[in-house]
Amino acid sequence: MHHAAIAALGLNWRYLAFDVHPDHLRAAINGAKAMKFIGLNLTVPHKLLALEMVDVLDESARAWGAVNTIRFEGTDARGHWRPLIEFTDDVPDKIRARGFNTDADAIVRALREDLGVQFGPATRVLVLGAGGAGRVAALKLAAEGVGALFLVNRTAQKAEEVAAEIRRLYAGATVTVNYPNDGVDLVVNATSLGLRSDDPLPFEEGRFSLDRAHAAYDMIYRPAETAFLKAARSAGCRAANGLGMLLYQGAAAFELWTGRPAPIDVMRVALERNIYGH
Ligand code: ATR
Repeated sequence: MHHAAIAALGLNWRYLAFDVHPDHLRAAINGAKAMKFIGLNLTVPHKLLALEMVDVLDESARAWGAVNTIRFEGTDARGHWRPLIEFTDDVPDKIRARGFNTDADAIVRALREDLGVQFGPATRVLVLGAGGAGRVAALKLAAEGVGALFLVNRTAQKAEEVAAEIRRLYAGATVTVNYPNDGVDLVVNATSLGLRSDDPLPFEEGRFSLDRAHAAYDMIYRPAETAFLKAARSAGCRAANGLGMLLYQGAAAFELWTGRPAPIDVMRVALERNIYGH
């Protein structure tokens, strides 16, 4: 998707994947800085480690406690830090790494744009999973003003910790660590159940039923339709997979690096072709 976006904007850039051992992450970031890279994306397990390794944390990375995007910046003649794209000729040698998080915004953008979900005090959401992705989804939904959140996780203690964090930060949200007794507007699968074709559904069927939800979102995008999404569609829910999250976090990173609007349709087509082959 980044190659397609780079081509669409006529930039002479390349987006490359590097397999970096966590012990070498600091060296890799400093190496990219020394080579005057435009930026980096980081994935698991580097997102947390990088918090300590960038020179400055954007509010987004601070708020969500993870860095998935780095932008390298240099100082202009007036001493202001600028993204490296703004230096056409001489890129200064003194460069800093600024850490961002574009994952959290991507979750709500996908829920809004791909599922048409609105967030407000009357909105009720069940989040399945309280790992890295589930925690950020629940916190972000609370930040967006969702009135009632239900959190369920195999390890209940982790859901309790996320609930406590939300109660501390967002007084407006009612958080329950349990399945809802009645309907919800949205159920989000943030567990890894569904990645394998023989996985069970990510919730206990005796305790929750998809016909009690209006919309269902699965953060998994491969396979394109998990058993959870299939069951949700059969139950009459609007349903979408996690491709939008991947797309929107990438588009936001692209905008941070280029300072220009991301060609989102071009990126979506490239992503779908790459992942689903059509
Ligand atoms: P991610 O960054 O994708 O969120 P993670 O932090 O490892 O990855 O979280 C994985 C999530 O899937 C967790 O909610 C995990 O539950 P636990 O916290 O109890 O580990 C959930 N998960 C993974 N395998 C599961 C399984 N077999 N049954 C139920 N939940 C499972």
